[in-house]
Amino acid sequence: MQILKVENISKIYGSSKRDKEYMALKNISFEVIQGEFIGVMGASGSGKTTLLNILGSIDKPTTGKIIMEGKDIAKYSKNQLSTHRMKNIGFIFQDYNLLETMTLKENIILPLALHGTKINDIENRLSVLVKDLGILNVLDKYPYEVSGGEQQRAAACRALITQPKIILADEPTGNLDSKSGKDLLHLLTYINDEYNATILMVTHDVFAASYCKKIMFIRDGEIYNELHAGNDKKQFFDSIIDVMSVLGGEER
Ligand SMILES: Nc1ncnc2c1ncn2[C@@H]1O[C@H](COP(=O)(O)OP(=O)(O)OP(=O)(O)O)[C@@H](O)[C@H]1O
Ligand SMILES: [Mg+2]
Repeated sequence: MQILKVENISKIYGSSKRDKEYMALKNISFEVIQGEFIGVMGASGSGKTTLLNILGSIDKPTTGKIIMEGKDIAKYSKNQLSTHRMKNIGFIFQDYNLLETMTLKENIILPLALHGTKINDIENRLSVLVKDLGILNVLDKYPYEVSGGEQQRAAACRALITQPKIILADEPTGNLDSKSGKDLLHLLTYINDEYNATILMVTHDVFAASYCKKIMFIRDGEIYNELHAGNDKKQFFDSIIDVMSVLGGEER
């Protein structure tokens, strides 16, 4: 089943009079099928975050369509957009974006509470997720009282609790040590396998990318290439390195 269809989107920054125009995305088109785990790679400044923000309706494309459930979300009003984001999109950010004055539990259930979901439903969804993601015993702690990996898992719970159609992650392993990074990748693989969650993950890290089923490479705001994972993970890893060495994305 198709979850998302992107048709000829472009993004021009700085179209006001005093700024120079910059075309960050150029006529990008692709489709996302339910259950895909897509990595988005490319050199710094190639347009990855711009693309993810547009897909997540944090930002609007200058031209083009983003079709979800048969409707073009680029045409939505502010109110329609916030409902759409709440219902359909789960974000996992690099810096977790947890609210420091709330416990992990409060952070996780915030999107549902804002949405007016019944307490019973909230508790049910919460208990399944936190058991699965192994943060049951730190739920009443504040973000500064737990490890980076636990914060990241709480952020993943928050992204999942609304049962979104698509999960968008911008360099989610960027700030983690290698053990926590690996845990998060296993977690994403788990929610992809078990919940058939659809995931788009921006990453610079070839190891992280090798967990994806498909990689979309972006160069100068355009789709440059696509790679599909076969049965051989090592071979997939090597192919990603080959493309990245052409794209020059390894400098960071
Ligand atoms: N708000 C903005 N106003 C003007 N230009 C911007 C804005 N945001 C991004 N850009 C420019 O658009 C281009 C793409 O930026 P983007 O953040 O999408 O890159 P990226 O691929 O995510 O890079 P990185 O790997 O460094 O995170 C860059 O040249 C950037 O300077
Ligand atoms: Mg970025």
